Amino acid sequence: MNESSSRRLELVPGGVQLGTGPWQRPTSPSWVLVLPQTVGLCSSDLKEVRRSRDVRSDFGHEMVGLVHSSSMDDFPPGLRVCLDPHVPVTRTTAFSETTLLEGSPDQLRAALPTVLDGTPDDRAAFTEPLACAVNCAGKVLAGSDVAIVGAGTAGVLLAVLLRLKGCQVTLVNRSPERLTALSSTALLREVPKVLISEVGTRTFSTVVVTTASLDDTTFDGAWRLLSRTGGRLVLFGGIRSDWRVPGTHVLLDGIRRGEDVRELELGGRRALVVGTHGATGADFAAAGAVLAAPLPWTAGHIEELIVGRVTLPGLAALLNDAVRTGVDPIGKHMVDIGLNQ
Ligand SMILES: NC(=O)c1ccc[n+]([C@@H]2O[C@H](COP(=O)([O-])OP(=O)(O)OC[C@H]3O[C@@H](n4cnc5c(N)ncnc54)[C@H](OP(=O)(O)O)[C@@H]3O)[C@@H](O)[C@H]2O)c1
Repeated sequence: MNESSSRRLELVPGGVQLGTGPWQRPTSPSWVLVLPQTVGLCSSDLKEVRRSRDVRSDFGHEMVGLVHSSSMDDFPPGLRVCLDPHVPVTRTTAFSETTLLEGSPDQLRAALPTVLDGTPDDRAAFTEPLACAVNCAGKVLAGSDVAIVGAGTAGVLLAVLLRLKGCQVTLVNRSPERLTALSSTALLREVPKVLISEVGTRTFSTVVVTTASLDDTTFDGAWRLLSRTGGRLVLFGGIRSDWRVPGTHVLLDGIRRGEDVRELELGGRRALVVGTHGATGADFAAAGAVLAAPLPWTAGHIEELIVGRVTLPGLAALLNDAVRTGVDPIGKHMVDIGLNQ
């Protein structure tokens, strides 16, 4: 990289391409130019590459970066920041050697939380997904018996938070590959990992759904895991906006996005359905604190979930392969972007 051009990944029809362009120039009076160092690949990035995500674009957002320059004294060069993509600023993708954010000073402060000293970049890159899991954990009662349906990154981060909250956690998945990949992690050593087809008649007071999408089979499997009365179904993972609970007119995506609470009676079960969506500034602060502190049951930490590292050209190849094959990579991949990569 030199100070006139930088490489960045661009969404193009059918995939992505690596482009080189001049540094973005601010057009607003307040702005921050960040040099992304380490950026996590999120399942929503894959949805965007496949054009199957119909909300705002967040392509390249699990970022840890260093401030290069800014119009504001709050952002001195070298300050280490992550990104809260829920704050409405104008920004370019963090799958790039430079990313420019423009907005009001207050928005920029909210969008770029500082990374605490002592938190390595690889761990800090989990701040955003962990903040969303913090928001979700807030909907689960401390000490409860919880099944998490969906053993992707979101489900695992939630399992860690709920253990910290004194819950008994069981991680449930529809297919074995993710559970097998997680079986050797110290992070989840004491968390039972069970195929949904093998849970049997066991029930839980709370079930959290963290799957990438919800279909009739997944909903039915999650609903059956709940106690007959007094249970709580927490909706975290993706749901199509027009998907209805089978046999009813109940649209679940509205409950999730609106973070609503509603009672549902179905097939002899009555439970509260609770939505969780996004993260607040307080959730980001709580996530930063979790990442800065040791975990009581392992000397390792959340970066144990990283299964692969790529550079920007490697990311382009990985994403285009996923589009071509229709197969998502399993586990967290980190993109190394900083200088000298
Ligand atoms: N509420 C929020 O604020 C928030 C924040 C961040 C992310 N999310 C959402 O959370 C979801 C999970 O994210 P992630 O990063 O954990 O994804 P991930 O690592 O790719 O994991 C995907 C999980 O979903 C399961 N899955 C995929 N398609 C499925 C289907 N059709 N039916 C049932 N299960 C299916 C997978 O099971 P297999 O192993 O069997 O394939 C796996 O357990 C995404 O939809 C994401 O958009 C929500």
